[in-house]
Amino acid sequence: MNQLISPSVLAANFANLNDDILMLNQSEADWVHIDVMDGVFVPNISFGFPVLSAVKKIATKPLDVHLMIIEPDKYLAEFAANGAYMLTVHYEACPHLHCTVQKIKALGCKAGVALNPHTPISVLDDIVEEVDMVLIMSVNPGFGGQTFIPNTYKKIQQLRAIANQRNPNLHIEIDGGVNVANALALLQAGADVLVAGNAIFSHAQPKSIISTLKNLNPNTQSA
Ligand code: DX5
Ligand code: ZN
Repeated sequence: MNQLISPSVLAANFANLNDDILMLNQSEADWVHIDVMDGVFVPNISFGFPVLSAVKKIATKPLDVHLMIIEPDKYLAEFAANGAYMLTVHYEACPHLHCTVQKIKALGCKAGVALNPHTPISVLDDIVEEVDMVLIMSVNPGFGGQTFIPNTYKKIQQLRAIANQRNPNLHIEIDGGVNVANALALLQAGADVLVAGNAIFSHAQPKSIISTLKNLNPNTQSA
């Protein structure tokens, strides 16, 4: 199966979110990536339930919700009720991660765990079978438009090798600084879900960027 493309609406035009979501509906995007930031876990505040439920009313694709917040357990039910398909929490924000993952699944959502750039893959050793997706941050979370951190490739390779043995259906999502120049190498390293914000929404032809990302073939030799 082709990779999944999850455009991040953090880079969309908030004064006209309707048009940008309609564009995603018509595009080859698979999911819609929603970045929720609390100003505590990350040094920025984005948006919460009112925006999520507004997007849900328009979007025809599943909502891929990335929670960059402390104490996410308090809000999981409300995110599920507001239409989250995938609910991803940060390893660094969850002292009882196993419990949090079970709560997400009990709410009927897919469960994702995100790792900051400095957090090694090895911390997932006792939970890798339990999760539907691991989100590997390829920038420090908090802002769109940052530069991709190359150490990410090594982490993807490590995780894909583990997943092949222990959770073959695990999604590996890459978030931060993804663009048409690095996407093929990310897929070849073992990623299968690509988040992109500025690479898509800052381009004059966003649908064509989504199409390019969707149709890259990791089985071909890179140039
Ligand atoms: C960063 C967010 C990302 C961000 C990606 O904290 O998690 O999803 O929107 O934006 P780009 O693709 O512009 O780096
Ligand atoms: Zn994100």
